[in-house]
Amino acid sequence: MSQPIRKAVFPVAGLGTRFLPVTKAQPKEMLPLVDKPIIQYGVEEAVASGVSNIILVTGRGKNAIEDHFDVSIELETFLESRGKHDLLAEIRKISNMINFAYVRQGEPLGLGHAVLVARELVGNEAFAVILGDDVIDAAPPALSQMIKVYRDLDGPVLAVEKIPPEEISNYGVIDAVPLGGGVFEIRDLIEKPSRTEAPSDLAIIGRYILTPDIFGALDTTGKDRTGEIQLTNGLRHLLTRRRLYAYQIDGVRHDTGNKLGFLKAVVYFALRRPDIAAPFREYLQSIDIDRLVTR
Ligand code: G1P
Repeated sequence: MSQPIRKAVFPVAGLGTRFLPVTKAQPKEMLPLVDKPIIQYGVEEAVASGVSNIILVTGRGKNAIEDHFDVSIELETFLESRGKHDLLAEIRKISNMINFAYVRQGEPLGLGHAVLVARELVGNEAFAVILGDDVIDAAPPALSQMIKVYRDLDGPVLAVEKIPPEEISNYGVIDAVPLGGGVFEIRDLIEKPSRTEAPSDLAIIGRYILTPDIFGALDTTGKDRTGEIQLTNGLRHLLTRRRLYAYQIDGVRHDTGNKLGFLKAVVYFALRRPDIAAPFREYLQSIDIDRLVTR
């Protein structure tokens, strides 16, 4: 019998250099898609998937994330006194529904290292890893789709997506056998292969369901040539001992970790918001793109 998934690990220690200067004094995870920080989309997805224990693997300069998910008495009192009940409910929702735990990564030694740092807080149970940069609009929520696959197959599940050849070397890539229904059994996986070395067009995206034996596998995974411990390489070790699965999520993913992806996500989520969709659409349609574009 598969164990229930109760905990989700969010690695958030990255420096956000792609978004400098805005990330000099604030975490990239707090950049908003309309009015909600990127990280909150991932946290809400976890909660909507029945996973309400959130473990944030943080680093220096990330205090704004902790404050965001904490109770803010001053703000609540202020909103209450002004009769702003809708906003108050929205603010309370964030701090009420979830248990947060924080652990510091210390040094930026890669995704595999970030997962290892969460070991004591995760304990001996299966858990999720959510990379907040990947914001996925899906119904049912992406993580709950994966939990279903995990329950059926009783093994680790990685989210994958078909990626065009020119972008494949930014990802972990799997070699896999289709089992039907968007599910695959993984035969091999390789971190950031060159375009010619990529075993398929199926790239790992930012959702994982992992079993606690990943920790032992990561313990014996050395640093790669960039000095980082890669989760993909840890999973490769694990593959010698157990079956691993992949699943193509039914939904729309945005990679908000780069400028273009971030901008696309802002437009997408603005158009999904009933309160601003209509005037925003009107604005977009009125733009004279040829006149604006700087060449
Ligand atoms: C990480 C993983 C990679 C995965 C990607 C998904 O890379 O190492 O295997 O495909 O996340 O976003 P990063 O984006 O942190 O370089």
